[in-house]
Amino acid sequence: MKRVFAFGTIELKQGDLTEEPVDAIVNAANSSLMGGGGVDGAIHRRGGPTIVKECKVIVKEKGSLPPGNAVITHGGNLPATYVIHTVGPIWRGGKGGEAETLRNAYNNSLELAETMGLTSVAFPSISTGAYGYPVEEAVNVALQAAKDFLMTSKKHGSVERVIFVLFDNSTLSVYERTLSEL
Ligand code: APR
Repeated sequence: MKRVFAFGTIELKQGDLTEEPVDAIVNAANSSLMGGGGVDGAIHRRGGPTIVKECKVIVKEKGSLPPGNAVITHGGNLPATYVIHTVGPIWRGGKGGEAETLRNAYNNSLELAETMGLTSVAFPSISTGAYGYPVEEAVNVALQAAKDFLMTSKKHGSVERVIFVLFDNSTLSVYERTLSEL
């Protein structure tokens, strides 16, 4: 499914993010940047040891990555050129600023892609796995952030394709329903 906005498109598809041949895929990491399970584990497994090596340099220089922030490494053996690592919020009931942190994770990842002059960025459904964020809540934050970015990106410039790669069918259908109403 695809929606066209002023300065770019949002696309939804089911699949494995690590197979996406885009300028950057976005990793749903944890603050240590040392890898983990879920999409984080898949990216490090498929991308190879150069990714964690670059992450170690980043953590050495800047410390662990606070939730909502984003950093970038090369993609190693992945088809994607870069990996943007971001940390989503852990869901604790929704009254602890989780929505704002999740929005920041999407926004900072898109801003970083712009800074790098990238044109295509692919996201997973951040925080809706191990971090327990309900998909029905997270989807609104994710798609609204992408739409707002593409509607104002004339002053940004490079990003023109934002793709959400959803691992399972049920998540895909929640995203499709929401995107059609956005
Ligand atoms: N491609 C696309 N999406 C994937 C993939 C994949 N290969 N693997 C998992 N997913 C989906 C999950 O089904 C979920 O919808 O990504 C979404 C996010 O799930 P997680 O990967 O568990 O990420 P998150 O909920 O943000 O939790 C992050 O888990 O893996 C650890 O180190 C990570 O501590 C961090 C935490």
